Amino acid sequence: MSLTMKAVRIHAYGGPEVLHYEEPPIPKPQPDDILIRVRAAAVNPVDWKIREGYLQNTLKHHLPLTLGWDISGDVVEVGPQAAGFNIGDEVYARPHIERDGGYAEYIAVRASEVARKPVTLDHPHAAAVPLAALTAWQSLVEAAQLQAGQTVLIHAAAGGVGSLAVQLAKARGAKVIATASALNIGLVTELGADQFIDYTRTRFEEAVKAVDVVFDTIGGDTQARSWQVLKPGGILVSVVSPPSKAIAAERGLRRAFVFIHASGEQLTAIAQLIDEGKMKPHLHTVLPLAEARQAHAISEGGHARGKIVLHVAD
Ligand SMILES: NC(=O)c1ccc[n+]([C@@H]2O[C@H](COP(=O)([O-])OP(=O)(O)OC[C@H]3O[C@@H](n4cnc5c(N)ncnc54)[C@H](OP(=O)(O)O)[C@@H]3O)[C@@H](O)[C@H]2O)c1
Repeated sequence: MSLTMKAVRIHAYGGPEVLHYEEPPIPKPQPDDILIRVRAAAVNPVDWKIREGYLQNTLKHHLPLTLGWDISGDVVEVGPQAAGFNIGDEVYARPHIERDGGYAEYIAVRASEVARKPVTLDHPHAAAVPLAALTAWQSLVEAAQLQAGQTVLIHAAAGGVGSLAVQLAKARGAKVIATASALNIGLVTELGADQFIDYTRTRFEEAVKAVDVVFDTIGGDTQARSWQVLKPGGILVSVVSPPSKAIAAERGLRRAFVFIHASGEQLTAIAQLIDEGKMKPHLHTVLPLAEARQAHAISEGGHARGKIVLHVAD
């Protein structure tokens, strides 16, 4: 094996021009790591938020930094304390966000953050799953404890997180009301949404009332208007900004802010749902690793349909 690899890194914070396709050393796995040969890596909004330097006060990073925390590939080395995997296993992961990411031919990941990839998905589709599906799982299952028969309003249902959240909510037996623009009515309905609201024409709070859960992936004014559609005791879960404690208390509602944590265990449960045909990722586009700048530009545009994926190796 050569000592270097192709990777996309940043040496300074800034616009897409700070992304550089270069040849750093292959990472050395820690004792509890596995080394993964990356086949595909997904792009998420957090990648360009980190690239811009917006999260410098929240997350600890060293520069140069390899971006990308959503990968699918196969195991090429197993650390002495990394249990549960063998060389050649096909795996997927949302690695720890404060370590070097997966816009690279190789990544070292803690074994506890890795799971066997869904057997029914190829690597580009599998890479599209971990970060968005864990976010949906930790928001709907852990924070909201969404139950069969409940109703959930999912904002940005055509996005990376929303498109998996709709399917997860349906798999749990909930009724789903989804927002997106008219362009995405076909996609969102196909994903299983029971009711579609074109947010560009209809104020959702005029069309929805008394839901059990709102899943907010937009923040700002969308979050502020979301309180009024909840039934008493309902919960507003955001992954963008913490909903106000004072407003929740005043209205007899609950709130939660979720910042995703890595979990191989949850990824195993998600792989099972996918292999049972209950959930599948939708890909907006697949681009070569060297075109990460273009991938970031699409993500920053805010209108991706599903996930943007970088192809790393066949
Ligand atoms: N806290 C965490 O752990 C965590 C984890 C994952 C993601 N996030 C955050 O969650 C947000 C969403 O992530 P993502 O990956 O799903 O983003 P994304 O894929 O880029 O979302 C794009 C989607 O947003 C829709 N959209 C834009 N404005 C909208 C509006 N006002 N109402 C309804 N839909 C709207 C677009 O639909 P149209 O084209 O139809 O407008 C598009 O389909 C990001 O800010 C991300 O950083 C946080």
